[in-house]
Amino acid sequence: MDVVIVGGGVIGLATAWQSLARGLRVTVVDPEPAGKASRVAAGMLTPVSELTYGEEPLLRLGLASRDRYPSFVAELEEISGRDTGYRGDGTLQVALDSDDLAVLGELRRFQESLGIATEALTGRECRKREPMLAPSVRGGLFAPDDGSIDPRRLSAALLAAVDRLGGTLVRDRAAEVLTEDGRATGVRLAGGDSLHAGQVVLAAGPWSHDLKGLPPDALPPVRPVKGQILRLRGTTPFLSRCVRGLVRGSSVYLVPRADGELVVGATQEEMGFDTTVTAGGLWELLRDARELLPGITELAFAEVSAGLRPGSPDNAPILGPSAVPGLLLATGHFRNGVLLTPVTADAMAEVLVTGDLPEVARPFSPGRFAEPAGAA
Ligand code: GLY
Repeated sequence: MDVVIVGGGVIGLATAWQSLARGLRVTVVDPEPAGKASRVAAGMLTPVSELTYGEEPLLRLGLASRDRYPSFVAELEEISGRDTGYRGDGTLQVALDSDDLAVLGELRRFQESLGIATEALTGRECRKREPMLAPSVRGGLFAPDDGSIDPRRLSAALLAAVDRLGGTLVRDRAAEVLTEDGRATGVRLAGGDSLHAGQVVLAAGPWSHDLKGLPPDALPPVRPVKGQILRLRGTTPFLSRCVRGLVRGSSVYLVPRADGELVVGATQEEMGFDTTVTAGGLWELLRDARELLPGITELAFAEVSAGLRPGSPDNAPILGPSAVPGLLLATGHFRNGVLLTPVTADAMAEVLVTGDLPEVARPFSPGRFAEPAGAA
C-alpha cells in the first residue's frame, strides 16, 4: 500500500479519491465511514457570507475551494454516477433588527476592502427573493457565488468513487501509528491487525489528536467543537437558496434541499467529545429560525443530530507533512470541512505524489504551531 488514510469523512475520502486518481494505492481506515461530522454538516459553501475578521488567509483558501467545486463535483458525479446536491446560486444573509443590519453593513465594508463584491438589499428586496422571510427582516447581503452541497450525498459519491478506482476501505479504528527509525510506516488497528504503507495521513477530525505511537509535537492540535443541527421537511423547497441570518446578534443558517429538506444549524459549543442533543440547543435554533421564517412551524420535524468539528488554535486547517517523516495531516477544518474538501484533496494528493505542498496550502502547514527552537 502507498498510503493509509486514517478517517473516512469527506476530507479522508476526497483525499483518497484524488490520490487514487493519481495512481497511488490507498486504504482508508474508519469504523464508521462518513458517519461523524460529514453526516451532520449542513454543507454551506460560504466563504464570503461567513467571512470572519482576522481570517483573511482562510478566506483565500475558502475561495479557492469554492471555485474548484464545480469541476470537482462534475468529475465526482461522472465517476460515481451519483448526484451530490451541489448548487452555486448564491447565499442571502439577512438581518432582523437595526443592530444586526449595522453588523452586515460593517461586514460588507470588510468584504469590499478585500475586493469582494456583495449586493446590499433592503428588507423588501430580501422578501422578493425569499417570500417566506418575516416582514420584520430589515435588510440583507447577497453573495452571488457562495452555495451549498448535501454532505451525505457528497460522502456517498466519494465512497463510490474510491471503490470504483480500487481503493480499500477497512472498517476498524486506527489505534496507533507504527513507526520505524522515526518514520511512520503504517497503523495498528483496534482489532489487532497492522496495515503498512509508505505514507500515513491523519484525517480523523478531532480524533486525530488521540492516536498512540507519536511524539506529542507530531499530533495535530485539534479539539472537538460540538454543533447541534436540525432537519425539517416539507413537500417542496421552503427557500430558493441558502439563508444565513443574524437574529439580535445570534447566528442561524438555513440550507434548503431540492427534496424539501430544510437544515437549520448550528450551535457551537466547547463540550469535549459530548454529542448529546439538548433541549436548550434545539430551542435556540428553532427560536432564531422562526423569527426569520415564521412559516417553518408548519414543516415536519425530520431529525436532530450533533457532531464534532475539529477546531484548531487559529480556526484554520492543518495540512501537509508533520514533524514525523511519512506522516501527513489533513484535519483542523473547524467550521469549513465541507467547503475545504476539494482544495484539501487536491493539496494532499499533490504532496503525497510529489512531496511538495501546493502554494495555496502552504500557510496551513503543521509547522506554524511548532515551538521556536530554544523556546521553554
Ligand atoms: N459551517 C457551519 C458550521 O460549522 O456550523
